[in-house]
Amino acid sequence: MMSDNSILVESRKIYELEFVDDRKLDFPAIFGNSNPIHLEIGSGRGEFLIKIAKQNPQINFIGIDLKEKRFKTLLRKLFKEHLLNVRVAKIFLDENIIKFIDENSIETIYLQYPDPWPKKRHNRRRIIQDNFVSAMKNLLVPGGLVDIVTDHREYALWIVDHFRNREDFFALYEIGFKRVPDKNHIETYFEKLKREEGFEPYFMKFRSRL
Ligand SMILES: C[S@@+](CC[C@H](N)C(=O)[O-])C[C@H]1O[C@@H](n2cnc3c(N)ncnc32)[C@H](O)[C@@H]1O
Repeated sequence: MMSDNSILVESRKIYELEFVDDRKLDFPAIFGNSNPIHLEIGSGRGEFLIKIAKQNPQINFIGIDLKEKRFKTLLRKLFKEHLLNVRVAKIFLDENIIKFIDENSIETIYLQYPDPWPKKRHNRRRIIQDNFVSAMKNLLVPGGLVDIVTDHREYALWIVDHFRNREDFFALYEIGFKRVPDKNHIETYFEKLKREEGFEPYFMKFRSRL
């Protein structure tokens, strides 16, 4: 039986992306094909990433998380699953991501329960800021999608506000969010927990203009 350490070493060799200064990721070389690329920011332990990647083998998925412990759990799961359409990276993702990923190269960006930083003085730590929305626009193919879910009402309103007055995105839902999930929605453990606590999700989708 392989030791946990060997599993992590082997999994890193297969799945971990390296971000090297001033070098953009070469997706066709990484995945060995030119399938569309979807990016999940804040994958945590990878529950959503693994399910969606299994359901969509014709799409390549990149999962990012900054926390070492969660990232290791994700690496262990990937090693078991043999998901060749997934790659992951342990980085703090911010607007500088455009140094590492070609513009117009991502079809969909997912943010499942981004940290809400509810205290007013911490709001500036929220990942959704004007600069960051601009960076996402840069990464997305024309017509690409940003797909966000949060259980935090005030953060949902903040997110809708950050997309509302932009010319380069439009909201798919009339008031910016909806409360009923899509039929094929993937519910994570975190979402289930929040529902049980009485926090129903806000679903948001913003399409980048052509
Ligand atoms: C509330 S958890 C949600 C995890 C998962 N998406 C889910 O729905 O179960 C937020 C995750 O985003 C990660 N995260 C927050 N800000 C990040 C950033 N700037 N770059 C990468 N990961 C980030 C955290 O480490 C954490 O795992």
